[in-house]
Amino acid sequence: MPKFIINGRRPLKGEINVSGSKNAALKIFPAAILTREKIRVLNTPEIEDISRAQEMLLALGHEVKKIKPGVVDIKFNAQKCVALPAELVNKFRASIMFVGPILATCGEVRFPHPGGCVIGAGTRPIDLFLDSFQKMGAKLEIKDGHYCLKAKKLKGVEIFFSKVSVTATESLIMTSCLAEGETVLKNSAMEPEISALADFLNSCGAKIEGAGTPTIKIKGVKKLSGGEYKIIPDRIETGTFAMLAAASNNGNILIKNCEPKHLEALWVLFDKIGVNVILSKDSVSIKPAKKLSACEVTTHEYPGFATDLQSAYTVLMTQAYGLSLIHETIYDRRLLFTDMLTQMGANIIMADPHRAIVNGPSKLHGRKLVSPDLRAGMALIIAALIAQGKTEIDNIYQIDRGYEKLEERLKKLGADIARQN
Ligand code: EPZ
Repeated sequence: MPKFIINGRRPLKGEINVSGSKNAALKIFPAAILTREKIRVLNTPEIEDISRAQEMLLALGHEVKKIKPGVVDIKFNAQKCVALPAELVNKFRASIMFVGPILATCGEVRFPHPGGCVIGAGTRPIDLFLDSFQKMGAKLEIKDGHYCLKAKKLKGVEIFFSKVSVTATESLIMTSCLAEGETVLKNSAMEPEISALADFLNSCGAKIEGAGTPTIKIKGVKKLSGGEYKIIPDRIETGTFAMLAAASNNGNILIKNCEPKHLEALWVLFDKIGVNVILSKDSVSIKPAKKLSACEVTTHEYPGFATDLQSAYTVLMTQAYGLSLIHETIYDRRLLFTDMLTQMGANIIMADPHRAIVNGPSKLHGRKLVSPDLRAGMALIIAALIAQGKTEIDNIYQIDRGYEKLEERLKKLGADIARQN
């Protein structure tokens, strides 16, 4: 199994570029199924989850062509394939995003329960998707461990999501574009990736209003045209690199090609902690600060503090003076990685499965670690880069799922990191 070997406490400074957003790109690929015309996707991150999404489109019989690094052409193929391959569905949670568009264009779809990160209660429920598709007129049958949905024509309806769900909101936006009549989605998620998806679909002729607010209205249309879509910068990567810079705290780091306005909750926290940050329209500059102060955080749906930034923030708090409460409200198990930080010398008490108390600052020392999921894996890399000595991180497929050419970009900052296959 490939692993990262990291020798910590190298001074980090210089520039790092942010890639296109994984969680935006993972919705555009399935959305391409909604039109018979070609979609050109720009600024596509070259990461494992995107490779799986491309493999899924190919498995479903669509044309996928890499024009050049970051640029991919997708074209729906008339061939009707409605079964999602289990070996792919098990690899990433976002495989669920293919279900709605296939149901909307082919009238049926068959798939097993999606896989991906180990975070989240049990097996990451999909009840919001299944309930909504049935409300739109689809018939659900569960057989041999597979979900089978059938619908001659989906009807626009009013849906109130019992939980705020990013992918459920995005899935129902896509699926409703071709339904009969108007769909109203209430208690919708408001992440920037949702607004980006709606902007793209509207540029192809969809009629979507209200994306980025809790109530979204979609008027069904007969068909969508093709188009071109530039993936927005990855706000989680931006915030993660900003926390790496703040935690290493020994050199000027400029984070480029990003969208600072998507991370207001983080910048408010940085002010309280005393991180020396300068924001511009598309870059973030972090300079060393005298002393970092501990500050509590509670994860929340956008525009609150993103759960995907929680693990990197927890590492940052191990370097801050004082006690900080980390309250993870979205997912179960997303704080479990703190055990490994404790083994590295951090002083962290798990108050309950959703709350951890960090007492800083602590000197971290390198160890052998295993990446439990995508975001915790990246947080362990931050810990290894600021720790004394050598760290080995195993199971780095989880990290490669979401971070493009990571070791190359970190080496440019002066990090001593190598991939051992
Ligand atoms: C998206 O996941 C992101 N993934 C996650 O990023 C992110 O952490 C999450 O939103 C929250 O911001 C993608 O966009 C591919 P949810 P998603 O549905 O949509 C419950 C990363 O590291 N729920 O918003 O799957 C669910 O259990 C990943 O990039 C149901 O109960 O998350 C959770 O408690 C990790 N039933 C809550 O909603 C459902 O049918 C929010 O999850 C669906 C979700």
